[in-house]
Amino acid sequence: MRFSVAMPEDLLIRFDSLVARRGLAKNRSEVVRDLVRDALVEEDCAIPGTEVLGTLTITFNHHSSDLQEKLHAIQHDYFEYIISSMHVHLDAHNCLEVIVLRGETGLVQDIANLILGTKGVKNGKLVVTTTGGHI
Ligand code: NI
Repeated sequence: MRFSVAMPEDLLIRFDSLVARRGLAKNRSEVVRDLVRDALVEEDCAIPGTEVLGTLTITFNHHSSDLQEKLHAIQHDYFEYIISSMHVHLDAHNCLEVIVLRGETGLVQDIANLILGTKGVKNGKLVVTTTGGHI
């Protein structure tokens, strides 16, 4: 389907810069479609009861007292919802861990918050998505 959109000139200029940054393969229509899909996935992930996939990335210092044992224990407590994890030794002290979760959106958020709230976790972010049927 084709439709036309009206927007203020300054917003269109900024949008065209975004389109340019996304590369030669992208045009206005494709970027609008990408943004609409992102918004729909975000909406779906906010509906209680929705099954989501979450990717939690954290960094921490592995010398922090019993942090590794705590992170390990949380992952065993919720083994049904944690489908994979990857540990990267960044340098002599710092580690990065990527934890992939699958489950009801509220539960995935709660498990992520538990991990993010563990003393010694320096930085982290959860990204959620769905396999939902958007074209
Ligand atoms: Ni490590």
